[in-house]
Amino acid sequence: MIDRHGRQINYLRLSVTDRCNLRCIYCMPPEGVPRLRHQDILTFEEIERVVKVGAMLGVTKVRLTGGEPLARKGIERLVQCLVATPGIEEVSMTTNGALLAAHAAPLRASGLSRLNISLDTLQPERYRRITRGGSIELVLEGIEAALSAGYDAVKINVVVMREINDDEIGAFARLTRDRQLDVSFIELMAVGRTGLADARRLVPGAEILERLHGLGRLDPLNTSPSSGPAQRFRLDGARGALGLITPVTSPFCHRCNRLRLSSEGKLRSCLLQGGEVELRALLRGSGTDEEIARAFGRAAALKPNRHRCSSLEQMSRIGG
Ligand code: 5AD
Ligand code: SF4
Repeated sequence: MIDRHGRQINYLRLSVTDRCNLRCIYCMPPEGVPRLRHQDILTFEEIERVVKVGAMLGVTKVRLTGGEPLARKGIERLVQCLVATPGIEEVSMTTNGALLAAHAAPLRASGLSRLNISLDTLQPERYRRITRGGSIELVLEGIEAALSAGYDAVKINVVVMREINDDEIGAFARLTRDRQLDVSFIELMAVGRTGLADARRLVPGAEILERLHGLGRLDPLNTSPSSGPAQRFRLDGARGALGLITPVTSPFCHRCNRLRLSSEGKLRSCLLQGGEVELRALLRGSGTDEEIARAFGRAAALKPNRHRCSSLEQMSRIGG
């Protein structure tokens, strides 16, 4: 499946629930967001069907997101089915880690390859503030469980916010020294209606990089077309890798190879703008695989060449 800018679409992000057990300041308004009704959320069988058709069209990697994917019951069963889908080579997950301690080993046993864990501070009180009530101890236990479970990669994602956590860039980067743990820094996108739709909180990637250089020698790592939007580095002698993701100062749309499936069954061409194609009616009606395939084609055709950050909406609905 090639979009109209020549990009091979091989990566599908699946939002498996709109629910989240946290309310991060950059993602949600303080009061939270209205929840979708249970019957509006795709069933596992419906998600599996979409992935099966996507795989026939060239999708090889899927990532489970939310909301918080571990808030959805029985997620291991979904992972097992996706891993067994012909053509799917890698199933990964982005989680906030709060429920991970109990799930890390079963998910690994189900065939999950990689875990991205969102963690923006290493300080308990600060964590409580950023997540509006979360408990960092749970996440740290989750990370330990993930490191013990033998994943291909465990990565921490840090959204950098000026005067909120930008003094911890060094502390996060140093985590890669001794453990087989990757750390990626992400520029803050100003999302409407959150507590943090303020462009002054942005720390540009160039500045993050400067601070990383201050820690010691930084070797660039190869990026392949499949390595996604991150620039990658390694601190001299470190075991884990560092990543830098710059959606604001250097949008990577021209290299974007992904589509997204929302939890209510819309195939979205872009996180931020561009159109969406409604799949749920097809799935619940008498839609054939060919019709679903055509819907993929329409979504790929809608992929914009560049995003405009002014049109950002809530991340929690669309899964980062
Ligand atoms: N800016 C940057 N990244 C965000 N995410 C969510 N909201 C934002 C935002 N406003 C990403 C973070 C988080 C994941 C779930 O989505 O990486 O870890
Ligand atoms: Fe935080 Fe992710 Fe939940 Fe948003 S979806 S509130 S970023 S944990």
